[in-house]
Amino acid sequence: MMYMTPLSRRGAMRLIGAAAAASTVPAGVRAQTAQRVLTAAPAKANLVGDVYPATAVWAYGGTVPGPELRFRQGERLRIAFENQLPAPSTIHWHGVRLSNAMDGVPHVTQPPVPPGERFLYEFELPDAGTYWYHPHAQSDRQVGRGLSGALIVAEAGAPQVDRDLVWLLSDWRLDQQAQLVEDFGNMHDLMHDGRLGNTVTVNGQVPERFAVAPGERLRLRLINAANARIFELEFRDHSPVVIALDGQPVEPHAPLEGRVVVAPGQRTDLILDCGGAPGSVSQVLDFQKQSRPYRLVDLAYSDVPIRKEGLPGPKRLPRNPLSEPDLSNPQRHEIVLGGGMMGGMSHAMVDGRQLSMREMVGQGLGWALNGVAASEAHDHPPLFEARLGDSLVLGFVNETAWPHPMHLHGHSFRVVSRNGAVPRHENWRDTVLIEPEERVEIGFRADNPGDWMIHCHILEHQAGGMMGVFRVG
Ligand code: C2O
Ligand code: CU
Repeated sequence: MMYMTPLSRRGAMRLIGAAAAASTVPAGVRAQTAQRVLTAAPAKANLVGDVYPATAVWAYGGTVPGPELRFRQGERLRIAFENQLPAPSTIHWHGVRLSNAMDGVPHVTQPPVPPGERFLYEFELPDAGTYWYHPHAQSDRQVGRGLSGALIVAEAGAPQVDRDLVWLLSDWRLDQQAQLVEDFGNMHDLMHDGRLGNTVTVNGQVPERFAVAPGERLRLRLINAANARIFELEFRDHSPVVIALDGQPVEPHAPLEGRVVVAPGQRTDLILDCGGAPGSVSQVLDFQKQSRPYRLVDLAYSDVPIRKEGLPGPKRLPRNPLSEPDLSNPQRHEIVLGGGMMGGMSHAMVDGRQLSMREMVGQGLGWALNGVAASEAHDHPPLFEARLGDSLVLGFVNETAWPHPMHLHGHSFRVVSRNGAVPRHENWRDTVLIEPEERVEIGFRADNPGDWMIHCHILEHQAGGMMGVFRVG
């Protein structure tokens, strides 16, 4: 296991607030229905600051993260993906309930786009909220090299805020020259908690200070684009209010114990009222699971308040047109998560053959759903099938020693229960974190036809077999 000293942030003293402020006026692109081209290619990015060399990355549109795509609810997205990477790729639009052919899953919804070629993604955006895009081909390597970006769909009647900002969180494993450590796919990461890095960036930069004004109200859209890191953020001296999870509105509430948990793939929209004193500084800490907390960034207050009185509490966002599952008599399926170190899994089915864990590891596999370890380039029989319109309840049973953020494509679902208890605030999601020994039930209406992925969003677990397909229609 390789562990390096984190690179110093001191060399990287900069105010990210200034750069981020630009994105309130649609930075990136207001794409409307006009077609635009999004190119993926190798690039250089200054992640850590000028005292280190720029990092060789893979990037959309030449930047890390890729351009922030902003649309209005109901608009049509039309983006030609151009692959200038040295590997086949696709774009997956995480969380968007789109038509199956546009979902960007190689070998399941489309052939992978070879280097030098294009693919036109075109679909409607039915739901407002915070989404993101990333490759679905060798995701562990391609996302891990920097391919990800925010996709924001604005609701009509959005809450009044002073700034509407994205914090796209990424985690990099860098060497002392600030270059990516080329140990993607190693067995340790695969069998434990995935590729954890040593350098966390917010919008592609190691942040030192984030400039805010006293009295300011922010809508902060947190996106966890890291391969494996589960963020657990605490905004010292502040009381953030959660208003949406995975893009879907939720009753505004304070996060449990003041910690905002965002697992890979998940998003959390916060209202952050900046009530600090002029000139003061407070820390945003990450209590990253299973480790020591570190300072992610400082909120640095300017001297001039922009308003004196506090604002009334945020209202609930308008709901999206999701169809409620009928939970009175749903079709039920169990999904057992197995494998990894200390999980006790002795064997699993691989391509129709039963393999021992030792044989699986020889093929880069170590995880399974319902006893089947799937790999990307193969066709798999669906884990379950539903008729269009069926209401389903899936019971995830975590028989491993590790947490897993399980993601469903093409649908949002309700979190129905955790170990039998109804969660208070976790309403709709597209990615749900399941702790060891936990049983989590989700409910949804299978209203989107096609073969859809279901997988762990710790990308090393996904690559290691923790994925499958379900069929609707
Ligand atoms: Cu964000 Cu199947 O992925
Ligand atoms: Cu996992």
